[in-house]
Amino acid sequence: MPDQLRIARPDDWHLHLRDGAALAAVLPHSARQFARAIVMPNLRPPVVRVEQALAYRRRILDALPAGAAFEPLMTLYLTDTTPPEEMRRAREAGIVAIKLYPAGATTNSDAGVTDLKRVAAVLEAAEREGVVLLVHGEVTDPEVDVFDREAVFIERHLVGLRRSFPGLKIVLEHVTTKQGADYVAEAGQNTAATLTAHHLLYNRNALFAGGMRPHWYCLPILKREEHRRALVAAATSGSGRFFLGTDSAPHASALKEHASGCAGCYTGLHALELYAQAFDGAGKLDRLEGFASFHGADFYGLPRNAGTATLRREAWTVPEVLPFGEAELKPLAGGETLAWRLVAADIGSSQ
Ligand code: NCD
Ligand code: ZN
Repeated sequence: MPDQLRIARPDDWHLHLRDGAALAAVLPHSARQFARAIVMPNLRPPVVRVEQALAYRRRILDALPAGAAFEPLMTLYLTDTTPPEEMRRAREAGIVAIKLYPAGATTNSDAGVTDLKRVAAVLEAAEREGVVLLVHGEVTDPEVDVFDREAVFIERHLVGLRRSFPGLKIVLEHVTTKQGADYVAEAGQNTAATLTAHHLLYNRNALFAGGMRPHWYCLPILKREEHRRALVAAATSGSGRFFLGTDSAPHASALKEHASGCAGCYTGLHALELYAQAFDGAGKLDRLEGFASFHGADFYGLPRNAGTATLRREAWTVPEVLPFGEAELKPLAGGETLAWRLVAADIGSSQ
């Protein structure tokens, strides 16, 4: 078994960086792990216009530690009232994607889309301009069981969306079910999916092991073991349409350990090590590089990174608590031992 793994420098195709003191706290972790990241626009207020995205990008760059090489790839939050012209302006400004949150589906999604018909003209413009559509694929219908919301979203909305805009690149984000993985595998070259480390490593039992564990609570929620296995199979399949997206979503620990706890797992600190653990567990470490470093860039039509990241088989313990502005942040699996450690990141000559 190899004890060292060197891969091309990876990217994170779904990341929450927040803003202000929280941004300053988590950004160094992501910049150490990844060369680029698709930055989610669910701030308060949401990032709905090109100017807001460019100002947010500037705040991210200003918060980078000296010497870090990290490129934030910006996204716009799609609302019922996004003007179609915003898609051309987005493309011209280098904004790569728009994010569809069904209204009320997750953290800071109140301004999301209430009916897909209302955004048809925007999606047509996105298709024309080559702006990628990122989808939080869960229905919000309270009649639908929380564990079924992804599968029902695919049936009720995604199949039709895919058919209406065949040229639109769609990423079904943080896929959590066998239905999601199967759908994407069969949906053709313009449909892809990101997979989080936590959905590859854990099933829903993790939420309740030894008591209710809020740090394992995220949306979409962890599913049954059969789904986890299907996700691992998709991630390690070698298919270019499955790639890494941490969905690292930091919340102050007091807001997660709460009567109405926030959804989101913090993995920005140790994402690559968590993915290595999942791929190693499947005996597929040789597939990690494609998943982490090539497939996403290829799907987005962006160049692959020049640098490298080196992981070593070396046990280390995930810290239990990290500073988070005035608050505290608890990383997923804090206090647990991981088998792989990121020991070096070489940023390459072209960055
Ligand atoms: C995300 C957050 O906290 O912003 N939470 C989560 O559970 N993943 C929102 C999201 O991506 O759904
Ligand atoms: Zn997310």
